[in-house]
This record gives sequence, structure tokens and C-alpha cells, in this order.
Amino acid sequence: MQDEVDICHSLIVEKAGKGNQFLGWIDLPSKSDEALISTIEADAKTIREKAEILVVIGIGGSYLGARAIIEALSSPFSAFQNDNKHPVVLYAGHNLSQDYHAELLHLLDKKEYAVVVISKSGTTTEPAVAFRLIKNHIEKKYGFQEAANRIIAITDSSKGALKNLADKNGYKTYIIPDDVGGRYSVLTPVGLLPVAIAGYDIRQLIQGANEMQKVCIETPSLLDNPAACYAAIRNSLYRLGSQIEILVNYEPSLHYFTEWWKQLFAESDGKENEGLFPVGVDFTTDLHSMGQYIQEGQRILFETVIHIQKPKHLLSIPLDVANLDGMNFMTGKTLHELNTMAALGTSLAHIEGEVPNLDILLPAIEERSLGELIYFFEFACALSGYLSGINPFDQPGVEVYKNNMFALLGKPGFENETETIRTRINE
Ligand code: PA5
Repeated sequence: MQDEVDICHSLIVEKAGKGNQFLGWIDLPSKSDEALISTIEADAKTIREKAEILVVIGIGGSYLGARAIIEALSSPFSAFQNDNKHPVVLYAGHNLSQDYHAELLHLLDKKEYAVVVISKSGTTTEPAVAFRLIKNHIEKKYGFQEAANRIIAITDSSKGALKNLADKNGYKTYIIPDDVGGRYSVLTPVGLLPVAIAGYDIRQLIQGANEMQKVCIETPSLLDNPAACYAAIRNSLYRLGSQIEILVNYEPSLHYFTEWWKQLFAESDGKENEGLFPVGVDFTTDLHSMGQYIQEGQRILFETVIHIQKPKHLLSIPLDVANLDGMNFMTGKTLHELNTMAALGTSLAHIEGEVPNLDILLPAIEERSLGELIYFFEFACALSGYLSGINPFDQPGVEVYKNNMFALLGKPGFENETETIRTRINE
């Protein structure tokens, strides 16, 4: 596929392909602005000093990147660690669950908190509703002025309801660049601010992304550009009949990284009745559920497996003299060795079951390698889209449910659709 990749690669680097008005993400790492980074770090410090909880309000590309990085880097038990230095990050506005938001407000009654509200369009229903609820709560709790000091908005430079609200109420505001779409925005303040507030090193994140940017931009060679190699393989497999790509991790902390990846590829690839369906699994947990299907179900799958080479902690299996569980053959081995052998054994089994396997090796779960991985997937996603002939930067299909919901809720301007949709439902 090298010839095709050459053409699509130049469409990206020369910003000449479909949706090229949204190719600003390409140079975000190399053009990162020192003044912006310093401001983010200063604001993060201020928020850390006053908040036990940070509520990040957003949906889709306006929250998944931050969550992916924060959860990858955090202890799974951070909520119980009572570390006064870093707020626990919670999320809102990514669903419309009454119970979820009611429980969150109950918790916030008892906690010192701050809010980062993110919406590029500034008009998305879920975050707008969550922000209305939380704005009401925070103003009652702290008074209007202190509430305004505890709210930071990240939105479009000039338009949208959130921009108006932020200007009117005097919130600190960060801009999402016009030429960066939601799912490619993790290296803008959308991802950087929450990550910095959570206490992680955004400079290292950008540094890693910058290193991958150099590799990806420099050459379209399938041998030297890992994103080109990945894009070519997944497109080849699609052309050969695969319909589903499964992103596999063996570290529960990568669960939300997979959610970010799913959104990136689903919204970019899935259109014009084409595209691989992106699915995620957490192994070995899901080997005891999805594993059966992967091994013996429909042969329309392939797996992309993220391997972590060096864990943060060391943990070995202790000797048990009674050996009633029969596990003494593992004594002295680390859990990481077990996990690695599980991964190897699984790959062999799945390949034998005709599920092609791709491996991605990540040195460690840390800011720098996550930055590399993020840019790697973004570039591969754009290239994959161009290889399939689609525009990887729009998401027209997302509007359909919104229009139906607005019609059902009686939003002004949707009166004509309301009757039609009620009839359809009755039928
Ligand atoms: O990738 C995208 O563009 C979407 O997932 C958006 O990020 C998501 O719909 C949220 O949009 P907004 O930031 O305008 O509220």
C-alpha cells in the first residue's frame, strides 16, 4: 500500500485533503506556546490549592482525552487516598442520567470543588444541562463571585452559548482553536488543563507527542513511520473482510484510553456505510467474557494490542507452603511476567483462531509515552480515513439523534419535526 500511503500522507502534511480546515492538530505539539503552557500550569496550581474535587464537564472529544490521560496516570484508588495536593477528578455532562448528576451534586454539597466546563460548539445538550445544574449549585455554595473564580470555560474563540456565558459572568476562558475538531483536541487546553490540575506533567506529554509528530510527518515510509504502518495494516485487513477492530489492553488504567481511541476512530471512520467498528476490551478481565467470541465467533475481527513494557510497581507472587491453590510454580515470578505470558498466550490462541494481531509496545504508562501514543493514533486515524476516501474530520451522523431529541422535547425551531416523529413512534 506504500503508493496509496504516499499520496494520503502528503494530503495530511500539505493540508490538502478532505476536511483540511480541521488539520490544526498536526502541529499542536511542535507549535506549543510557552505562554499558554505557563498560564495553564499557573491556573492548575490555583485550582489545586482550593479544590478537593475537580468536575470536568464535557462530552465526546471534549472530555475523553483528559479522562484517558488522567485515569491512565492515576492510581485506581486515588479517590480513597486523601491526597490534599491533587483534586480527585470527576466528570459530568457526558450522559443525561438524573441519578448520576443528582448523586454528584449530593457529593459536591460536602466538598470544596472547582469546575472546568468544555464545549467547542458551546451548545451541546449534555454538558450545557450539567453546567446549568452545577452552576446553580456552585453559586449557592460559594456566592456568585467566588463561584466565578472556581469556573474555567474552554470553548470557541468567538461563538456559542458557553462563550457568551463565560464572558458575561467573567469566567477565565481558554480557546479551542478553530482548526482543531473535538476528538483531535486533547493536546489543546481541552486535555492539558484538566491533566495539569490533576497534577501531571503536560510538558512531558507534549514532548512525547512532538517526538511522534516528527516521525509521522517526516516520512510516509511504512517501515519508518509507525502510524503509516498501522493505518496501512488496518485498511488492508478491512479490505480483506475484517469488520471489527478490537483495541486490547492488559492494564485497567488504560480503559479510558480505549474509550478515547473508540471515539477517535468511530467518528472519523464510520460514515458512508463504511468503516471498521472499533471495540475495546480490558484483558485479562474480558478474556472471561468477550474471549469466547473472539476465539470462536464470527471471523470478522482483528486485534490491536497495547503492551506496557515496564510497570510502575514491583509485585511478586509469594511462596505458600501449604500450596493448597496449586500456584507454587509461580512463586517468585512478578505479576507483570504473568500478565505478559497471558498476553502472549492469548495472541497465539487468537491468531490460531484466525484473528490477526497487531502489537503496540509502550515503554511505560507515563506522560511522555502517552503523548507519543496519542499523536500516533491521531495521525493513523487521519491517514486511515484518507486511505478509505472519506473525510475523517466531520461527524454528520451525530446530528440525527440530537434532532429527534430536540423535536421530542419541543425545542423552538423543531415544531415541524415534532409531529412527524410522534407519528413514527406511534407507528
Ligand atoms: O469529536 C467531536 O467533534 C465530538 O465528539 C465533540 O467533541 C462532542 O460532540 C462535543 O462537542 P462540543 O465540544 O461542541 O460540546
